[in-house]
Amino acid sequence: MPNFYATTPIYYVNDKPHIGHAYTTVLADVLTRYHKLFGYDAFFMTGVDEHGQKVQKAAAARGISPQEHVDEYSEHFRNLWPKLNIDYGYFIRTTDDYHKKFVRDSLQFLFDKGEIYSKEYEGWYSVGEERFFEESELVDGKDPISGRPVEWLSEKNYFFKMSSYQQKLIDHINANPNWILPDFRKNEVLGFLKKPLNDLCISRPKSRLSWGIPLPFDEDFVTYVWVDALENYISGVQDKKHKDGTPLWPADFHIIGKDILTTHCIYWPTIIMAMGWELPKHILAHGWWMIDGSKMSKTSGTGVNPMDYVETYGVDVFRYFLIREMVVGLDSTFGHDSFVRRINSDLANDLGNGLNRIHKLILTNFGGKIPVPPASAQSGEQEKELLGYSEKATQFAKENMGEAKLSLVVEEILNSVRALNRYLEMTAPWKLAKSTEQKDKDKLATVLYTGAEVLRVALALLSPVMPQKAEKGRLMLGASDSVLKGGETLGEGEALFPRIMEEK
Ligand code: MSP
Repeated sequence: MPNFYATTPIYYVNDKPHIGHAYTTVLADVLTRYHKLFGYDAFFMTGVDEHGQKVQKAAAARGISPQEHVDEYSEHFRNLWPKLNIDYGYFIRTTDDYHKKFVRDSLQFLFDKGEIYSKEYEGWYSVGEERFFEESELVDGKDPISGRPVEWLSEKNYFFKMSSYQQKLIDHINANPNWILPDFRKNEVLGFLKKPLNDLCISRPKSRLSWGIPLPFDEDFVTYVWVDALENYISGVQDKKHKDGTPLWPADFHIIGKDILTTHCIYWPTIIMAMGWELPKHILAHGWWMIDGSKMSKTSGTGVNPMDYVETYGVDVFRYFLIREMVVGLDSTFGHDSFVRRINSDLANDLGNGLNRIHKLILTNFGGKIPVPPASAQSGEQEKELLGYSEKATQFAKENMGEAKLSLVVEEILNSVRALNRYLEMTAPWKLAKSTEQKDKDKLATVLYTGAEVLRVALALLSPVMPQKAEKGRLMLGASDSVLKGGETLGEGEALFPRIMEEK
């Protein structure tokens, strides 16, 4: 059995979860479920990033200790995932003792190896990004990422010799062209690596920031939150194994948003190289959910809060929209109208209609048992062509889940459903049902059998995206996990994908 281990970023607990966190986690969940569907021992880890300035500030603003704050806020994340049907394998918190020990041990190792040195450092510091910037990196004198003001700071700090791994990193990227996905993000990283790499400041003086993991070799400092956070990907699974006994690390996929490309494609791999660990196999950066041209977080100017859609329309439909609408890598807009259009056309019209038609016709004409197709059905040209769509969708899903081209996978599946609806229009089983001729009766059995089989495959292929709806559909069609034989008893009929009536 092949193995699969994916990760999501661990989310800052300075605020409650929003669409961005939900999306990455749904993506990891869907990808993991696809691997399970195709026979992998698949596992993914998510969790929370609990140290650093942002969290310390959030706690201070609430007048409570950072520990109290993270204990409470980490639950907002943990409690959201079941509501989104997220089946994670492990949830990590960076304030757990085993993680802190892991980070301290690794830093001591790097220090002993001569990979870490201290020096007096002066530079422009951004509180928002928790890092120093070069003068040349500032935009209009401000933090180039958040656009917020920076302050001039001078202090002793510890540095990791990141620069000495620059060439090794470039070589690795060139030798493994799909290590960073999609391709244009790889080029972005290579572009960044054209300039000389600086060493990485890995400490913060306790006088300025106390909420962090103390450095093992100098307790007056805490670990820079990113070094602490990135190591979660290994610390969280150090004692876990796949079913065949192999360790989970190295991860197959780090799934991240494009905002944290540098930390994952430069800081993390160079730390790994210095530690002598194995590199992750792929880093997949997706784009942002946008609204009115800016990155979405809690709510938008238009009052659309995507998380409300889970309550109103149901979790599976919400997951379907996220996965179908965003081309992994590119930005997407979350809008009410596009949500309604997408759900109504793909799910209510195409899938829902196909399913209801087939279910009803089998119920009324074959007493609720899937008809056994007559021998002549095997050779039907129309049927071969239609089943070819299911075959193609299955093949496409197997081949493309590896690069997480999930919007295209879903589109291929829906193509098979659309082909089925066209087939029904052409063969008109409702007319065949009225005929008394044997050849029409045979054709009716063939049409309904073939239709049910195409839907069975489509629902199985959609199950990673819509686990509950797909299961209900499977039960409606006789609950078979392999090619229909005919004779399976249908379950109760149900309108699985009601049309959304309101338009804004
Ligand atoms: N704590 C760090 C990550 C450490 S990983 C070792 C962090 N946390 S975060 O809470 O800010 O989450 C960032 C991630 O949330 C992004 O990389 C992305 O996965 C997701 N998103 C946040 N806003 C987003 C959108 N508007 N759209 C899509 N995803 C975005 O950075």
